[in-house]
Amino acid sequence: MDIDASEEDPEMKKSSAVCVGREEDIKKSERMTAIVHDREVVIFYHKGEYHAMDIRCYHSGGPLHLGDIEEFDGRPCIVCPWHKYKITLATGEGLYQSIDPKDPAAKPKWCSKGIKQRIHIVTVDNGNIYVTLSNEPFKCDSDFYATGVFKVIKSSS
Ligand code: FES
Repeated sequence: MDIDASEEDPEMKKSSAVCVGREEDIKKSERMTAIVHDREVVIFYHKGEYHAMDIRCYHSGGPLHLGDIEEFDGRPCIVCPWHKYKITLATGEGLYQSIDPKDPAAKPKWCSKGIKQRIHIVTVDNGNIYVTLSNEPFKCDSDFYATGVFKVIKSSS
């Protein structure tokens, strides 16, 4: 059975879905935090969609669960409370405004730095919210604060 296999194999276990709470609760609070296989994540409920990502900001480890959600260029973002970096909820991209030095009067344009914050998978089953950790093989900047010596677990702070 799959469950038995995942209990024996730590790598397989990390890829299993973990129940983090009830749908009715997150719909009220619009965000929750959870520890999924020893990784701290934040789950947002925004405009009818769920989004999960590493809780510590890729820039310097800021607490994203305390940030505001705002739209930039039509894309919902969490704004880190520490230095106001903008991270798209759907993809984990870092957004910034670029100015053309040859035309400083032109309106600044929103651009992407690429995926900076690791996004995890949220599923809902029978009123329960599950998070499955991303197993995308690329190195994501937010991994730095989610693993190793910089990992900050809520219960210890
Ligand atoms: Fe998030 Fe600096 S720690 S913007």
